[in-house]
Formats: sequence, C-alpha cells, structure tokens
Amino acid sequence: MRDARAEATPTPYAVEGVDLRKTFPLRRSMWGRAIEQVVAVDGVSLAVEPGRTLGIVGESASGKSTVARMLAKLIPVDAGKVVWEGADVTELKGRALRPLRGRIQMIFQDPYGSLDGAYSVGYAVAEPLKVHRRASGSDARDRVAQLLERVNLDPRLAARRPGELSGGQRQRVSIARALALEPTALIADEPTSALDVSTRAEILNLLRELQQTMDLAIVLISHDFATIRHLAHRVAVMHRGRIVEEGTASQVVNDPQDPYTRRLLDSVPVPNVEEQRRRRERLHSSADTARPSSG
Ligand SMILES: Nc1ncnc2c1ncn2[C@@H]1O[C@H](COP(=O)(O)OP(=O)(O)O)[C@@H](O)[C@H]1O
Ligand SMILES: [Mg+2]
Repeated sequence: MRDARAEATPTPYAVEGVDLRKTFPLRRSMWGRAIEQVVAVDGVSLAVEPGRTLGIVGESASGKSTVARMLAKLIPVDAGKVVWEGADVTELKGRALRPLRGRIQMIFQDPYGSLDGAYSVGYAVAEPLKVHRRASGSDARDRVAQLLERVNLDPRLAARRPGELSGGQRQRVSIARALALEPTALIADEPTSALDVSTRAEILNLLRELQQTMDLAIVLISHDFATIRHLAHRVAVMHRGRIVEEGTASQVVNDPQDPYTRRLLDSVPVPNVEEQRRRRERLHSSADTARPSSG
C-alpha cells in the first residue's frame, strides 16, 4: 500500500542518495590494479526535503565530503543512486546533466577554492548565469546586484577581487554564486569551519534565512555538532563510511543511541543546561562500563 502511494505521488525530496558506495585506490600495481584501497562510503542512504536541513556530522575521514560530492555529482558513484527532485541522475553526465546542474549546488569550506582570485566578485557571481545562458550584459549585472543583496552584501563589492574581502564576505559571495541558478538544494561542506566564531553564526543565520525565503533544502556537513545543531532539522552521524545514527536533531543530541554519537557529543561544548545534566548522568552511568575506544 505504501508503495502504491509512493508511485502515485512524486517524491517529496529535493535530493536523495540511495545506498551510496565509494572506494578510492590508495596504491596501484604496475598494471594499474588497485592493491590498496580505502572504503570511503559504505552504503549511505539519505534524503532531504525542500525547506529542511539535514546535518551530516562525523569526524575527519568519516566519508562526509565523499557523500557530498556524490550527491552533487562532482564524482561518480561506485554503486547506489543519486536522485534530484525525483529524477534518477546517477548515470547522467556532461550534456545530459547540464540543464539540471543548477538545481543542486555545493558550497565549500574554503571559498578561495571556488572563487578565482584573478576575477572580480561580480564576475564570479555572474559566471553561472552566463555559462547556463540565463542572463548576459546589463541583465546579468542587475541579477548579480540582487544576488549580493540577498546574501546581505553591498552590491558595490561586485567590483572587488575575492582577496580584498574578509573570510565571511567571501563565503557570502560563494553562496550568492551558488544561488545564481535558483537551486532547490545547497550542499554545504564545512561552510563555516574556516571562519571565526561570530562570522560562523552570521553565515549559519544567513543560510537559515535563505532556506526560509527560497524553500531551500540544505545538506549541512560539519565535524562539529554545535554547528549542525544550529540549523539541522534532522541529523545523520557518519562513522567510517556509514551512517551509525539518524534522527531528528533533538533526538540525536538529547538522546543519542549510538556510542560513537555520544563520544562525538561529549567532545563538543553544548550550551544547554538540560544536556549538561544528561551528560553528567551518562558519565556516572558509564563509569563502571568500558568506554568506547577512540579511533
Ligand atoms: N580522491 C581521493 N583519493 C583517495 N582517497 C580519498 C579521496 N577522497 C577521499 N579519500 C579518502 O576517503 C576517506 C573519506 O574522506 P572524506 O569523504 O573526505 O571524509 P570527511 O569529509 O568526513 O573528512 C578518507 O580516508 C580519505 O582519505
Ligand atoms: Mg570533508
């Protein structure tokens, strides 16, 4: 019965990954065969609806960025499915993918990576509009000004180079650029990890504001629970290429089920009296049981 309903109505998800897998070769034999490899992502399924944020949290090398890059179709999957707005895009590439490219956009930790220092801010924001033939000339300039205003930047910054801006301003520019093609989903991979604490909060607030006005789906990736918690409706905890726990943000933060999730939570300051009480209780109750090994 559930299946019949699923067929009758389009999927509610902006972006979805089904049983995603990815292995990287570390070393190859002289014949080009991988003789050592790392299983970066080992069967991950997740989905996010328009207007909602899914947080992915996990320590370094747990596979978060690899999941993000597969969802954004920056790298191919070894196995599994990538679905954008109900359309299976797993096998699409090049030309066939092009009309859909703007639907799902990625933001990275270091905006320098996505902004070419040789070009102006205005050029960077206008580029996707030009590449996808959505606007040119004075239309493009107007659109760039609107996009900069949307991320709370002075449109006059269009004439500057990324190197002249602060880290927070640069991240706003890369968000403006990501919004140029009016995506349904943003995949933000550690978007605030390189920023100082107050700028971090500003960028997260901006993302929330944009989500509300544009009904954006957001996949927010961080090694840091405090960041995830700020924005996420649901949280998936990754460990060694798998999701070890998934639930609403309050379930996962207030009542973690997996020992790895507890360990992650214990390593970040969570400014919440209730949580601190629980944490003390957990400490007491785990005093006579073995602590999960750290790895
Ligand atoms: N292009 C690559 N080539 C080889 N190994 C990679 C590559 N990308 C990621 N890895 C490995 O895959 C694992 C997961 O990496 P990643 O997805 O970047 O984790 P995270 O974003 O959680 O830090 C790590 O062991 C990493 O070294
Ligand atoms: Mg990463």
